[in-house]
Amino acid sequence: MRTLAIILVAIFAVNVQSARILGLFPHTGKSHQMVFDPLLRTLAERGHDVTVVSFFPIKNPPANYTIVSLEGLAAQGVETIDLSYFDSQNKLLNTLGIEKVIRQILDFQPLADMATGICSNIVDFVPLANAMKKSYDVILVENFNSDCMLGLMHVHGLKAPYISLSSSAMMQWSADRIGVNDNPSYVPLVSSEFTSQMTFLQRLENTILNVYYKTWFRYAIQMKEKAIIEKRFGRRIPDLQEIAKNVSMMLVNTFHSLNGVRPLLPGVIEVGGMHLDHSRKPIPHYIERFLNESEHGVVLFSWGSLIKTATIPKYKEEIIVNALSKLKQRVIWKYENSNEEGTLSGNILKVKWIPQYELLQHEKVIAFIAHGGLLGMTEAISAGKPMLIVPFYGDQMVNGAAATTIGLGKAISYADMSEKSLLEGLQSVLSPEMRMSARRASKIWQDRIADPLDTAVYWVERVIRWGHQDPLHSTSKDMGFIEYNLLDVAAVILLSFVFLILVLRIVLNQILRLFGAGTSKKEKLH
Ligand SMILES: *[C@@H]1O[C@H](CO)[C@@H](O)[C@H](O)[C@H]1NC(C)=O
Ligand SMILES: *[C@@H]1O[C@H](CO)[C@@H](O)[C@H](O)[C@H]1NC(C)=O
Ligand SMILES: *[C@@H]1O[C@H](CO)[C@@H](O)[C@H](O)[C@H]1NC(C)=O
Repeated sequence: MRTLAIILVAIFAVNVQSARILGLFPHTGKSHQMVFDPLLRTLAERGHDVTVVSFFPIKNPPANYTIVSLEGLAAQGVETIDLSYFDSQNKLLNTLGIEKVIRQILDFQPLADMATGICSNIVDFVPLANAMKKSYDVILVENFNSDCMLGLMHVHGLKAPYISLSSSAMMQWSADRIGVNDNPSYVPLVSSEFTSQMTFLQRLENTILNVYYKTWFRYAIQMKEKAIIEKRFGRRIPDLQEIAKNVSMMLVNTFHSLNGVRPLLPGVIEVGGMHLDHSRKPIPHYIERFLNESEHGVVLFSWGSLIKTATIPKYKEEIIVNALSKLKQRVIWKYENSNEEGTLSGNILKVKWIPQYELLQHEKVIAFIAHGGLLGMTEAISAGKPMLIVPFYGDQMVNGAAATTIGLGKAISYADMSEKSLLEGLQSVLSPEMRMSARRASKIWQDRIADPLDTAVYWVERVIRWGHQDPLHSTSKDMGFIEYNLLDVAAVILLSFVFLILVLRIVLNQILRLFGAGTSKKEKLH
């Protein structure tokens, strides 16, 4: 029996030793690609034949790793965000309480132009078309602001099962394609600043925006990309939402003990921490000396790879410098306009580019001022260092709220930032209590059945072995609104009640009439 099983497995399973894997990453944010690269590299090192289409080709690719570079098809997103954009707050909208809602909606607008712009360029890109003409055992596609690649996969007749990769928590439009519950009563949107426990007004906002974003993604992106592909290839293709529903599995860059608990499915795998490189690369000499010579430890300060720190308004920079110079700790600040060997003033060393995870793991680094990007937050929790989060856009608000909930840190507003709020925030983050709770959060976060990268590799290979024979989604993805929400069932139950009450009333009336007739006869007899 056992031998038979082994033979059957050998016959039906694709040879997973050297599968052909295609990775499609049409987004220009460098931090997104940084999450996926270790997985793609590891798959190639395990003997798979990996082809990667990306704006950020890796250096020193291993054997069997083919690069199709999208460089030049769109501007890459590194240090492109101007801080003056975040400075003005509209006082009127703020008093109405809708400033943050409007800001959220406006923040997402550029993602539509970015997606359709890139889609218009890649439909004509010959190296991509050539890569898509080959056959594959599995396809990995980033699930962010575009489904253009899904349309192209259809056009080129790629039939392999596909896995979607997300560098953040699930986007607002992702849950429906695999049928995972995203009930806005307790699942906060990735763009919100909520946790799973919301007040009435927060649930109202979370619900309205949930519907808004799904509709926006459909009309501002999916339909336009479909039109672009149809125009280019001169034929109709299925709705991109329908192709999207063929997703076999989703790898999501979260872990419940950091990002909060939400319902999952067998096909939604949390691999937060998969990008971490545990190899401990050396820290530049001048930075190491600065660390070594610090008496009270060092606070690391970085607003990530997208924000250009040098665009900070003068008065804001003064607020920050004044607050930081009151600390007894030293500060390392990631700041593009600084000298090769760093620019030192007082206790602050400005550095062009920091080896962030190496520094966070250094014993002298005791806290992290960050923008709440998920990569930095993942590195901080892994290293057990408390954070002061100043969120700007995207998922940073929801990340700040999550870090606060688990005692990893505190979040303060950038628009209302004052010397006082910054200093108070820093004092609370540097307190022994917060440093201890960050270490505890780190231990809980690290306690897993397997390393996140190994987990991701296992699930990709599992999909290669079984594909559509092993469904991991929920069938609810194909249900209509009425069936899914049981509105038809509720209607029948309601009607049955009404019917029952009517019948009971008639019966009761009859009984009362008989009874009444009886008593009146008796009365007459007296
Ligand atoms: C490269 O892939 C082929 C199959 O496509 C496989 O036979 C070979 O062992 C792989 N090479 C390496 C170095 O992994
Ligand atoms: C979904 O996948 C199945 C199985 O490979 C295929 O038959 C079907 O055409 C796909 N649907 C769409 C809309 O691509
Ligand atoms: C910093 O301290 C460590 C450990 O004491 C030492 O190994 C290293 O050489 C020092 N580095 C510098 C640049 O002083």
